Amino acid sequence: MAEKVQTGVSGLDKMLYGGIPDKSMVLLSGGPGAGKTLLSFEFLYRNAKMGHTGAFFALEEEPGQLVSNVKAAFTELTDIDDVLNSGKLVINAETPSEDLINDYDEKSNFEFGKVMADIESVITSTKAERVVIDSVSVLDIMIRNPTLYRKYMLAMLTNLRRLGVTALMTIELESPERDKLVFKPEYFIFDGIIALYQTGEESRRMLASEVLKMRGTRHSFVTTPYDITSSGFRLFAAEDIAPY
Ligand SMILES: Nc1ncnc2c1ncn2[C@@H]1O[C@H](COP(=O)(O)OP(=O)(O)OP(=O)(O)O)[C@@H](O)[C@H]1O
Ligand SMILES: [Mg+2]
Repeated sequence: MAEKVQTGVSGLDKMLYGGIPDKSMVLLSGGPGAGKTLLSFEFLYRNAKMGHTGAFFALEEEPGQLVSNVKAAFTELTDIDDVLNSGKLVINAETPSEDLINDYDEKSNFEFGKVMADIESVITSTKAERVVIDSVSVLDIMIRNPTLYRKYMLAMLTNLRRLGVTALMTIELESPERDKLVFKPEYFIFDGIIALYQTGEESRRMLASEVLKMRGTRHSFVTTPYDITSSGFRLFAAEDIAPY
């Protein structure tokens, strides 16, 4: 069995029977505001504190904005700056230029190659073992050509696998509801999928998470409520109640 990478997130490692198999490519999907960015940041933060360097590639927001959002949400994690200053967690802004939109054109291939080369050089120079890309939906929106998008996703995974990292990539779900879940063809190339849902009506919204798949390990099949607290995520794993 592959070695496990602990996420360090309360409850999630229980759902994963110890963690994510080492060097897995995991999709973290969820609706707007479900907590994809915060959860993936917490994964790197917890791993940095365990001694494993992480690189966060922000495709959607400025690193400064990201850090201030994270600090506003996780007020009890008072050592975020120390972790960032230690170099164990590096945040990079990666903003693909409009050239990516030029499909059927060499410019688009060139632009994607540039983004990938930037990502690779940061991973190599920081010796990052854990990687977050937030989010790959940005590429989908920019490229607008499903075939080309899939080709780039595959290329990205091939490159990340070659670099030997464990990666979490966030993706926007079309609907935050579990029963409207749609699997897209590009999902099948990932080793694991963790989904975050928002269910119920506006007045009684419930956040729930589920491990849809995780190659190479046992995992929970239970839809698990979660909470975003000032000291991080809490997933109320059923495995806590009925120990395995
Ligand atoms: N200061 C805060 N206090 C409490 N909860 C917060 C705070 N900031 C954010 N949150 C919670 O975190 C959620 C946003 O988390 P996050 O930015 O990780 O979501 P996301 O899934 O990445 O969203 P998007 O699709 O917009 O990128 C909010 O919807 C809210 O529930
Ligand atoms: Mg986000």
